Amino acid sequence: MCGIFGYIGHKNTKDIILEGLKSLEYRGYDSWGVALKKLDGSIDLVKQIGKIGNSTIKDTNSNIGIGHTRWATHGGVTIENAHPHLSCNKEIVIVHNGIVENYLELKTQLEEKGHKFVSDTDSEVLAHYLEESYKKEVDPVLCMQNLCSVIKGLNAVIALFVKEETFVAYKNGSPVIIGKNNDEFFVSSDPVGIASYTDKLYFLEDGEIIKASKNSIELLNQDKKVKPVSFQTINFPKNMSDIGNYPHFMLKEINDQVDVITNILKTQRKDVEEVASKIKNAFGCFLVGCGTASYAGLAGVYFFSKIARRHLNTSFGSEFSYLINFIRRQSLVIALSQSGETIDTISSVKKAKEKGATLVSIINSPHSTLDRLSDKSLYLHAGPEKAVASTKAYTSKLAYLFLMAHAVAGSLKTGQSLLRKSVIEVKKVLDYSSKIKLLAKKIAKHDHIFILGRGLSYALALESALKIKEVSYIHAEGFPAGELKHGVIALIEKGTPVIVYNPKDETYEDTLSAAYEVKARGAFVIGVSEKKAPVYDVHIPVKFCSDATIIPQVVIAQLLGYYLALEKGLDPDKPRNLAKSVTVK
Ligand code: M6R
Repeated sequence: MCGIFGYIGHKNTKDIILEGLKSLEYRGYDSWGVALKKLDGSIDLVKQIGKIGNSTIKDTNSNIGIGHTRWATHGGVTIENAHPHLSCNKEIVIVHNGIVENYLELKTQLEEKGHKFVSDTDSEVLAHYLEESYKKEVDPVLCMQNLCSVIKGLNAVIALFVKEETFVAYKNGSPVIIGKNNDEFFVSSDPVGIASYTDKLYFLEDGEIIKASKNSIELLNQDKKVKPVSFQTINFPKNMSDIGNYPHFMLKEINDQVDVITNILKTQRKDVEEVASKIKNAFGCFLVGCGTASYAGLAGVYFFSKIARRHLNTSFGSEFSYLINFIRRQSLVIALSQSGETIDTISSVKKAKEKGATLVSIINSPHSTLDRLSDKSLYLHAGPEKAVASTKAYTSKLAYLFLMAHAVAGSLKTGQSLLRKSVIEVKKVLDYSSKIKLLAKKIAKHDHIFILGRGLSYALALESALKIKEVSYIHAEGFPAGELKHGVIALIEKGTPVIVYNPKDETYEDTLSAAYEVKARGAFVIGVSEKKAPVYDVHIPVKFCSDATIIPQVVIAQLLGYYLALEKGLDPDKPRNLAKSVTVK
């Protein structure tokens, strides 16, 4: 999703902003732009479609500038629609992350006042509105206040006031982080963009406005009161973007999983026990997340049912608001998220919190919006996940939920030992990579892949399908194996690849029957199971380690997705149309 970045100081502004934008690339974008205020007071505007790559900006003497990576929502991918956007008089330039829901209404009003729009975006209204406001107010902060009082939706904005050495930033929903290094100030959608310059950070709260000028910073809270900015010192790991010797982040992150789960096993017992006791005492517990995180939630429901005989609910973040009637003061909501910034998850769990529920988050990003919203956070400590497709954040969430279910059941030691075994199996799957690569070669030309499993393996089938489709663009569909005969089997034809997850649990025999049923219709059956069976055209062995088997099993789908993408000449790290951090609804 869009990323915003700003800088005021005495260093090379253009390079700092370009580097800042590069640090936000992982969020996904299709165009980018930078606005620099030159010393003569004019604005240098650079906008480009596509990736930043090795792009440079011609040297401009500048002490202040803003930049943007755009993930198109309103208006196609064009230079005109790329940010920054200028006001008519070119005295105000803005970058924006979010959606101005009432932009059409504001646009009409501004057009009636003579403003000319050059883009199809919702964002451009912000620049024109600020221009109007600036005719009446002398202080940019007051102009921003006026703007905030009229725009609807979840938005983050930086506005550079060209006549002054000043930018003003506002946030509601989408994150904005301010950094300070002596007399330099930074503003970014993500602390990662600032971390290489300073560890003094301030996380803007919803409704706050910050004004950064040469040597000074001013903060206005939601009540329009001036408040001191209390910068926190935050230590980020130094090797944040280290790809090592891997050709892609996705492959690196798949391989990271051994260490990540081992680390959870070694260090997180206390946190696991604390949340387990909250689950025991809660009256109703929901696991909430989006995409891959939601499938971790579904796996969690099976873990708790099987291991702890306890019913937990699950919901997509984007659907949870519609189930909010079930929430009361004694409810526990567990938000699952890699980024901690997924707006669908945040906005729905916020509503649950407003109804008095306790919020626990299992996240990979300390200091993120979810972290700050939560009564208790558990960190995955998985290290930055840069590939758009989530891998290690998924398995580390599974590790937590698995251990928690065991803790609730009073069998944490057993859970730990099973999880340890699953790590050994993950290593074996990684050693098996070359065979999975060959399999990818064999099935890459197919348009459809089906994935079957029952019970916990159904949750696994959904995540496996997501992984394959998002990086290889092959239509992959996960189904409960028992639903085959109720319709899906109509889609099986000669050669259709069908992955069958068949661990040695209570689902084994029934799932095996499903494998025979698709085989009888000509399917090419890939069996993932400890036991080899004649029905499998390809057998991928995974030793059974109770419900923790899901972890090595999913690594197969992650690797398959990765190699399918390579086979099709695609970049697995940056799939089309997807953003790493989905900060708009
Ligand atoms: O940062 P989050 O875990 O909250 O993100 C949720 C989803 O957007 C994310 O899992 C998405 O589905 C990934 N692309 C999956 O690989």
